[in-house]
Amino acid sequence: MPSSSLRRDLLLRLMGPLVAVVLVAGASAWGLAQHFSQRVLDQWLYDSAITLARQVRFVAGKARLDVPGSAIEMFEMDVVDEVFYEVTTTAGLRIMANSAVPPPTEGPDLAAESVYYDTFVRELPVRAIAVRVQGGGGEAVLVKVAETRNKRDSLANEVLVATLAIVAMLFVASFALVATGIGRSLSSLQPIVQRVRGGRRAFSPLPEGRDVPSEIRPLVKTINALLREISEEHAGRQRFIADAAHQLRTPIAALRLQLELALREKDPERHEAVLADAAAVLSRTSHLIHRLLTLSRVDQAAEDRTPFVEVDLDRLAREEVESWIDRALAKGIDLGYEHRGGVPVVAGREELLREALSNLIDNAIAYAGPDGPITVGIEGDPPRLFVEDSGAGIPEAERERVRNRFYRMPGTPGEGCGLGLAIVDEIARIHGASLRIGPRSARAGARVDLEFSPEGPGRTP
Ligand SMILES: Nc1ncnc2c1ncn2[C@@H]1O[C@H](COP(=O)(O)OP(=O)(O)O)[C@@H](O)[C@H]1O
Ligand SMILES: [Mg+2]
Repeated sequence: MPSSSLRRDLLLRLMGPLVAVVLVAGASAWGLAQHFSQRVLDQWLYDSAITLARQVRFVAGKARLDVPGSAIEMFEMDVVDEVFYEVTTTAGLRIMANSAVPPPTEGPDLAAESVYYDTFVRELPVRAIAVRVQGGGGEAVLVKVAETRNKRDSLANEVLVATLAIVAMLFVASFALVATGIGRSLSSLQPIVQRVRGGRRAFSPLPEGRDVPSEIRPLVKTINALLREISEEHAGRQRFIADAAHQLRTPIAALRLQLELALREKDPERHEAVLADAAAVLSRTSHLIHRLLTLSRVDQAAEDRTPFVEVDLDRLAREEVESWIDRALAKGIDLGYEHRGGVPVVAGREELLREALSNLIDNAIAYAGPDGPITVGIEGDPPRLFVEDSGAGIPEAERERVRNRFYRMPGTPGEGCGLGLAIVDEIARIHGASLRIGPRSARAGARVDLEFSPEGPGRTP
């Protein structure tokens, strides 16, 4: 299929009506010209017949025709056509003739004074006229004059050629007008193309002013909305890369210092201590890199358009609790699971939901302290997946901020990097779910919910 072009499309669409209009105009012009030119020739035929009819005299009821020979010669003289005449009484008696001319189809008793008709004389097609002349004593005469069609045919041909020439000129002229008109209208798109092409800053919006044709303004608006979205996304990514680079620079600078120190340190005990510090920094860095990779994987999953599958949250939570139980026990924490009702099935991506839950359990074990139990649970319909602990909790003022990338509450211990809740938040967004952060009870603890919505894509179809 050829590529789409507005110019070609408009021209093709206009071509049909244009051809039709030109043809109708041409046909009408031809018909009119034909009609009037034939009428002029008919008038000549009528004049001849009437001249002849005036010569008819009725003497004692009998019709007589006295025409001088020179007049007859004048009458018959025509370079292009042959002229035939016949004068008869209505009873059929021939008075004068140079050839037999058949009467009109309605017979010799004409309704009008004269009648035109087409017939054949000596096997030649002719145009004929019959004129009736009424005598005093009931006698009547029929004058018939016929003429071959040479003048008429060549006149018709000339009219046809002239009309065709006019039609062709009309067509070429209107096509040229339409084509230049379309070209002019479409050229109003040029400035926009120019502005898109020429020296723009990345993501700056296209002009939506009055000089933009209203037909393409919706397109320009859509492109601008898209540009804004891409620009915001781009800015977000830039920020993230800058933050990530900043986060990595600090431990790597520390690591370099420690290793330089270790190289110079001669005392075996201090040498070992410096190396242990370096190993701890390295472990934190590796944890940070692991989290960065997870976040980038989750970001990519947000673009993934493959359909969700049914995920059994009950089984997923049991398995996840199972895998964390040893680490909880090692810190003296009681980690348990409770299904508090509701249908625990959602449409989603299992590996992402597992990652989210794992991050929440990780936080609870890291920040809640050994004071109380941690409960992973499911309740409600649509289901809520939650993790609650009995630690210090997250103060209300911090509940929004802790979702931000790289944010940690001041004084938070451990090797975290502030990406855990950001990852959970993104996974919630992908599932059309919301991440709710609150206290476990009025007095203490934290409770973090992953709340699936009834309409969201996280719900089973
Ligand atoms: N269960 C919790 N109890 C107390 N504070 C928490 C809890 N979960 C998260 N936080 C706070 O929120 C911050 C952000 O958590 P997160 O995004 O997982 O990053 P990280 O765990 O790497 O610090 C933590 O640094 C901590 O201050
Ligand atoms: Mg964390």
